Amino acid sequence: HQNLLDLERLRSDELQAILATAQTLKNLTDGCRRKLSLLSGKTCANLFFENSTRTRNSFSLAAKRLGADTVEFSSSGSSVAKGETFVDTAKTIEAMGVDWVVTRHHTPGTPHLLARELKCSVLNAGDGPHEHPTQGLLDILTILQNRGPSDWTDPGVNASELLSGMTIAMVGDIAHSRTARSNIWGLKALGAHVIICGPPTLVSHRWEEIGFEVAHRLDDIVQRCDVLNLLRIQFERQYTRPFPSVREYAALYAMNGDRMRRAKEDILIMAPGPINRGVEITPEVADGPHSVILEQVTNGIAVRMAALWLLAGAHDRASKSN
Ligand code: CP
Repeated sequence: HQNLLDLERLRSDELQAILATAQTLKNLTDGCRRKLSLLSGKTCANLFFENSTRTRNSFSLAAKRLGADTVEFSSSGSSVAKGETFVDTAKTIEAMGVDWVVTRHHTPGTPHLLARELKCSVLNAGDGPHEHPTQGLLDILTILQNRGPSDWTDPGVNASELLSGMTIAMVGDIAHSRTARSNIWGLKALGAHVIICGPPTLVSHRWEEIGFEVAHRLDDIVQRCDVLNLLRIQFERQYTRPFPSVREYAALYAMNGDRMRRAKEDILIMAPGPINRGVEITPEVADGPHSVILEQVTNGIAVRMAALWLLAGAHDRASKSN
């Protein structure tokens, strides 16, 4: 692959290759802190048309940790305000000599559009509610580091069974969550049992029809989950549902001390962030011993280093063969 657009179309062995590379690069950089020069001379452009703290900064740091330069583009303050189109903007940035374009946009499919229009590699940093592949990868990396088999980075391991026996629930606003979709496809490919849990107004009946377990009450599943990934309600995406209100949501779906007492002893608590304290997660759980929310953030640099590194190799090979 020359682009990273979604996880839905990646095979389990491809997922394992990215995850194992991320672990190797995390180790080589002393936990994503030390700088290497593997990609010196290359340039990564961040094209963000939506807000971001974690994804944008960790893509930037990932490029820098591997010795590459970065270009930071935000639509606010740019010539988009003068009417320049999305594609013309991306082509303009590409013409400055970039090797990867990382894009976040509120419209699903925009990275796929750029992949057709640009010669450089395109990485999806979130396209509306569709997918957020590096978020899915960093979430899975965090699960493997904490609960995976000890030899999971070994290419001889059966990738499709890396997460077999694990029950992992995506909880909350599934309808608007690109993180949910990337996790669901990636986790399924690696053999996990995925539960999709949320209010009926925020979980499509299609998930059940295509074979996933769906639950509408966190209390019904909390006892048998190995991992909970807690999503926030995305108020910015036209959240105009009759149910639930924020108060109803917190009562039915917030992971709190009471639900923790009914959960498995070694449950992992994850959230892609940003978190709404007191809505999907209470502070005692977010900051408690089961929470790996900040490990997820560090792993964001690791998977983004891996994606840049692997795509650079694929791009160089494709250029030589043309
Ligand atoms: N998880 C995530 O995508 O966070 P940001 O919106 O801060 O990048």
